[in-house]
Amino acid sequence: MTRQHDAIDAVLARHGYRPHALLQVLREAQEAEGWVPRDGLAQIAQSLGLTLAEVEGVSGFYRFLHRRPVGRYRVLFSDNVTDHMLGAPALMAQLCSLLGVKPGELSRNGLVSVAPTSCTGLCDQGPAALVNHRHVLTRLDAGRVAQMAELIRAQVPVPQWPAAWFEVQDNVRRADVLLGTPFVPGSALQAALALGADGVMEELKRSALRGRGGAGYVAGAKWTACRETPADVRYVVCNADEGEPGTFKDRVLLTSHADLVFEGMTAAALAVGASQGLVYLRGEYGYLLEPLRALLQRRREAGLLGAAVCGREGFGFDIDIHVGAGAYVCGEESSLLESLEGRRAYPRHRPPFPAESGYLGRPTVVNNVETFAAVGHILLRGGAWWADIGTPKSTGTKIHSVSGDCERPGLYEYPYGTRVAQILQDCGARNTQAVQVGGAAGVCLAAPEFNRRLAYEDVPTTGAFMVFDRSRDMFEVARNFAHFFEHESCGFCTPCRVGTALVARRMDKLAAGHGSRADLDVLLELDGLMHVATHCGLGATACNPLRDTIAKFRPAYEKRLKSLQFEPGFDLDAELSVARRMTGRDDAAAHLETPP
Ligand SMILES: Cc1cc2nc3c(=O)[nH]c(=O)nc-3n(C[C@H](O)[C@H](O)[C@H](O)COP(=O)(O)O)c2cc1C
Ligand code: SF4
Repeated sequence: MTRQHDAIDAVLARHGYRPHALLQVLREAQEAEGWVPRDGLAQIAQSLGLTLAEVEGVSGFYRFLHRRPVGRYRVLFSDNVTDHMLGAPALMAQLCSLLGVKPGELSRNGLVSVAPTSCTGLCDQGPAALVNHRHVLTRLDAGRVAQMAELIRAQVPVPQWPAAWFEVQDNVRRADVLLGTPFVPGSALQAALALGADGVMEELKRSALRGRGGAGYVAGAKWTACRETPADVRYVVCNADEGEPGTFKDRVLLTSHADLVFEGMTAAALAVGASQGLVYLRGEYGYLLEPLRALLQRRREAGLLGAAVCGREGFGFDIDIHVGAGAYVCGEESSLLESLEGRRAYPRHRPPFPAESGYLGRPTVVNNVETFAAVGHILLRGGAWWADIGTPKSTGTKIHSVSGDCERPGLYEYPYGTRVAQILQDCGARNTQAVQVGGAAGVCLAAPEFNRRLAYEDVPTTGAFMVFDRSRDMFEVARNFAHFFEHESCGFCTPCRVGTALVARRMDKLAAGHGSRADLDVLLELDGLMHVATHCGLGATACNPLRDTIAKFRPAYEKRLKSLQFEPGFDLDAELSVARRMTGRDDAAAHLETPP
């Protein structure tokens, strides 16, 4: 007989016992204890009409869901390369040592666990960490970590820790249309209603706006496909998963410009005939959930959402927020839809594309946060005005998340077509060796390329701009990204699941000084294979940083090669250590000869 958990029952009731809410149910169910025991999973399965295997499958997929105790304090240090550069690994080691816990394990007294996690989207104010998946810590240093250890030992509740630790700044360094124009809630919506659905589509097409989430698909074409697909219901989904390492612009838009984003979503609903909107908020930004919900409520009270938006009969639209649970692949739009439907976030086969068959099989517009924000201003000032900014194939402005080796990390908004050198100058970067544009899956540019323009005509970008000065080891940068992709591969297809692991192992082998030129050849071979054989963009782009850094910073690799010839993929002498221990020998003769 399964033990009934009252708290879980309350969560299930709140979600109307809908199986599609499984991820939200699991996330909320673990809030009280930090994890969900097996009988809790069984209770959820029974109540939602799912099998225990289905529920366990989902809870095992997402890193922020736990089936074993993780302690009253779960501290996750951001593992992004920029946090590394700011000293995150040493701070994590310090906390582990002060609390007597190993990384990734629960302390013996069951109080605390400490582990690394993928980029938390706070690269401009790191080193950063998450506590209990709900609280973000910024600008950590040795003093704060020492104090944190004391607070944990004394079991002080996290909300009572020093408020300054939780301060998250917008750091807007250069504002243009999106970040710098005051916006009156309701104004874009009034403009949209005056234009009507066809008029909104006209302006959008005239603007030639392209999506800001990565693929750069023309928004007008996507919305047209959605509105022209016959359906009883349509949806608008805002992709706020922002997991690309080095990207944090969507966090700021949702912190300080959320009205604009919601208005873009509502205008999309008017244009395509949708009645429900969903924001997929990455788990790392869970601290934004309450303020965003409060804002939605204010918009309902102001008549900007609800059964008759702005009093317009026949135009009902509302927005709900779903929170992710620590899986980068959920940023891929079809994985995101799977996740919204309460399943493991395996990318779907496409076609059909979400605009034709998306959330619950209905036509769905999926756009990035910044794309919806741009829509708001296009409605206010017209598509032609927007198309006049930027370049012919990349209209409007773009927000860049700048981090790494520079004096002023933060957000910089420029018209498309701005040169890399301009941003480097504005952010106070000196002796720059390389810039990683577009995140781990993007492009690594070396100094001779700093005159290039950020635009679809030259270097496309999702908006991440990570700066590395000449003191940085570009091999280690690429190795960090290799581990990120290995960690984040969803495991659905073999070329990516195995390929990312093989790449990470080879990079570790090189780092340990056991590599040969043959390893570089194998890495490039894996890049070629994964580019064509993986199921989604994650696997296809996973080797981008590796390929770029081998081509542009080859000495960083070659200095690590032990031999130019073949080297075994493992350290044979180290492997024989068990045999040596068993025979009680550790003399020179018990070791393999070290090659000259
Ligand atoms: C592995 C992977 C991760 C992605 N992550 C994001 C993301 O965090 N945010 C986002 O808007 N798009 C992301 N995308 C792109 C989405 O699949 C999709 O193209 C985008 O949400 C569409 O919106 P847009 O047209 O406004 O750019 C990702 C794609 C891949 C392959
Ligand atoms: S490429 Fe990687 S992330 Fe994409 S489906 Fe395959 S295993 Fe999953």
